[in-house]
Amino acid sequence: MNVEISTPATELVQRLSATPRGARLARRLTADQLATWGYPHGGDPNDTAQHLVAELAANAVTHGRVPGRDFELRLLLTPAANTLRIEVSDPRGDRPLRFAAEDPEAETGRGLVQVLASVWGVSRREVGKTVWAELKLGGGWNEDPLDRI
Ligand SMILES: Nc1ncnc2c1ncn2[C@@H]1O[C@H](COP(=O)(O)OP(=O)(O)OP(=O)(O)O)[C@@H](O)[C@H]1O
Ligand SMILES: [Mg+2]
Repeated sequence: MNVEISTPATELVQRLSATPRGARLARRLTADQLATWGYPHGGDPNDTAQHLVAELAANAVTHGRVPGRDFELRLLLTPAANTLRIEVSDPRGDRPLRFAAEDPEAETGRGLVQVLASVWGVSRREVGKTVWAELKLGGGWNEDPLDRI
């Protein structure tokens, strides 16, 4: 006998233009999707997810841009583990990534992703790459993650 278990949608995939507007849209979509999943606007999980998506999307549209090509946002919620996986894919495969916060006084490249995400990484695709980050949602975000910088 087949037993069908219906689970709520836990994934968002959206292609966006590789422009500042596309990056802003990625952030707004994330805020709304997280609210739909039960992490309301203004709460720490929602804010942290927004920061991460804003960072990764800004990187995709500046460092990972190929004229005329979109980038892609994917959000994957794993409710059992209370984990959000964020994936931002861009079409550029020719640039090595270095997110290391080598100089804490530097104005740019301070590795906000490293600070905010539990784990993150880069995987190659047939065309371009995916930069991903995972975030533990809820369960004790009483501290401001930015304090850990
Ligand atoms: N999607 C990407 N494609 C190619 N290179 C990237 C990408 N994301 C980051 N990088 C490289 O990694 C470096 C560090 O990224 P990071 O976001 O930490 O700093 P930044 O973008 O240079 O500055 P900031 O984000 O503080 O404005 C970038 O300067 C760039 O060289
Ligand atoms: Mg950046």
